[in-house]
Amino acid sequence: MIEEETGASSELQEKESLADQDIAVSLRPGEITEYIGQDRVVETMNIAIEAALQRQEPLEHILFNGPPGLGKTTLAHIVAHEMGTRIITSSGPALEKGGDLMGLLTHLEKGDIFFIDEIHRIPKIVEEFLYPAMEDFAVDFIFDKGMHARTHRYRLEQFTLIGATTRSGLLSSPLRERFGIVRDLDFYNETDLVRIIKRSASILGITIDEKGAHETATRARGTPRVANRLLKRVRDYAQVKAKGHITKEVAIDALTLEGIDEYGLGETDRKLLQTIILNYKGGPVGIEALAATLQLESDVLIEVVEPYLLKIGFIIRTSQGRRASEKAFRHLKIPFKEKPDTQGLFEDMREK
Ligand code: ADE
Repeated sequence: MIEEETGASSELQEKESLADQDIAVSLRPGEITEYIGQDRVVETMNIAIEAALQRQEPLEHILFNGPPGLGKTTLAHIVAHEMGTRIITSSGPALEKGGDLMGLLTHLEKGDIFFIDEIHRIPKIVEEFLYPAMEDFAVDFIFDKGMHARTHRYRLEQFTLIGATTRSGLLSSPLRERFGIVRDLDFYNETDLVRIIKRSASILGITIDEKGAHETATRARGTPRVANRLLKRVRDYAQVKAKGHITKEVAIDALTLEGIDEYGLGETDRKLLQTIILNYKGGPVGIEALAATLQLESDVLIEVVEPYLLKIGFIIRTSQGRRASEKAFRHLKIPFKEKPDTQGLFEDMREK
């Protein structure tokens, strides 16, 4: 696999430190057999890859959807590795103009994987160039304007587009429909996170016992990227305070010091729950009002902060906004008062 990087990285990715990115790259599984978890996704991708290789054809276009840190980019690199092709990467926000996309598309070689991270952030006018590129492997150049306008259809090599998104609900239907394979990535279970932590510990030369790995996994928000980040913090703590060996107690002490509680919630999560409970009487509260109170971008709340809180049932999404659950009240040790008008009514999981 040959990797080519193009375009700026996204705003959300920039929130990750450089050190985290280095670690993420070195710990990232390179082959499909090393990939832990997401069993159905892996199995179906394995079949699609093997079938395409047998037919000596490029893969169909693929869309990976799911919260940040679950391995969408990793899977795209693995697909390229398994297909023995190049991967050319870009991201929705980096593709500002039609020309940005054209430049990349026209340089693709047969079988190349073209990876677009955060594909839901592609501007509408750029997205429209993608339709013929995906469907007919062609782009339409337009010369002149008005009554003298002429188009020239430029043929592209047959490539595979892999899109990654945290918000598949924001993709237009014409774009979504052009992906032959759509896979949703879900949060990892504890068993898989323990395996990932042990694998990472072994790569980094860290000694961690079973209970230490377990404790780190339970606080990793179902997310390998978080698990690897926590492992690094625990490693530092163990090195300085516990002769380098990670036990359950070392993991608890290190992560408590980091402000990460037994559910894996950090300062931002607790502030979000406290705001719903204390400022909005438990909710429902609209996402924009919540974001304004917390001084966060609503996209960050929706894409990064709330998915795990929804997953563990601390937040409930209703047609009128977000509500804190009884579990969330209990976790923050705030007495729960039931509100009959909002309890369980209007539950609505639609993408907002
Ligand atoms: N590191 C990060 N994600 C991983 C995964 N799914 N499998 C193995 N190692 C990983």
